[in-house]
Amino acid sequence: MVKIESLKTKIESLGTSTGKIINRSEDYPDIFHLPVAEIMDLFRTSGILLFKGFGVTHNQMKKFAELLSSNLVEDYVRPRVDEDQFIHFVDPGMGDLVVHSEHAYSPFRPDVIWFCCAVPAAQDGETIFCDGLQVWKELSEETKQLFLAKKLNFVYESIPSEIFKRFISPDATIADIKLMLDNLEGVTYQINQDESIRMEYACSAVVKTKYGNYDAFANSLLPQYAGAGKAAFADGSLVPDAVIDEIKKVTDKLMGKISWESGDLAMIDNSRFMHGRREFNDEKRQIFSTLSNL
Ligand SMILES: [Fe+2]
Repeated sequence: MVKIESLKTKIESLGTSTGKIINRSEDYPDIFHLPVAEIMDLFRTSGILLFKGFGVTHNQMKKFAELLSSNLVEDYVRPRVDEDQFIHFVDPGMGDLVVHSEHAYSPFRPDVIWFCCAVPAAQDGETIFCDGLQVWKELSEETKQLFLAKKLNFVYESIPSEIFKRFISPDATIADIKLMLDNLEGVTYQINQDESIRMEYACSAVVKTKYGNYDAFANSLLPQYAGAGKAAFADGSLVPDAVIDEIKKVTDKLMGKISWESGDLAMIDNSRFMHGRREFNDEKRQIFSTLSNL
């Protein structure tokens, strides 16, 4: 494991979490001077890194993500920046976003979500985060048993085939899409008459972390519940409201936040940490994201 002392800069804790803030220093005038092996070591144990003072732009975020990842992952939901396939504007709107793991409602969940800030909101608009490892430890035994016994279920009535082509190739056929879907765990589907796809995705709310293979409550349950006013398990039963309340209580208690400054870069382990956003009221706020696998 890396000794923090071997990094020639000030490392601070990110609030009370295991996350770390890595500050710019004379030895590391920009992020590309940082030693990749040491940074990855630190990331494995801390789960969130916040790079401060480096003045990171969205293009640098992408380059740095490429350097540390095996591949970048296209975000099929968010609008692209400068037509770049891998740099995106974060979720539109200014409202609260409850904590979730990125794309955990689909079989295309990336290992890491990266955020960089060009313009912070004048007030509020922090990115919030919660360590799924801690959440899992704090949930009641009864709730844990429920999530170990039952899978969450996400239903999509009509996904355009174009979305799936992005994961194969632009000229992929329906047969190619079927072949891909047949090989994805938790997926059941039907091809609609207009060649869109009805898909159900069943997955556990508790996942194994990429590093250490620990149990983590890291999923997309809360946004699903917030959006529909209910969330169903794969067996058709509903997640009880009392369980949702318990999750909210535990996640609220463990919540950390990133108060953005221009040029900040965050790297979040999506197999362990959930993230969200606090409400704000400032149209100038500009945060970008990139997804990658390690
Ligand atoms: Fe997100």
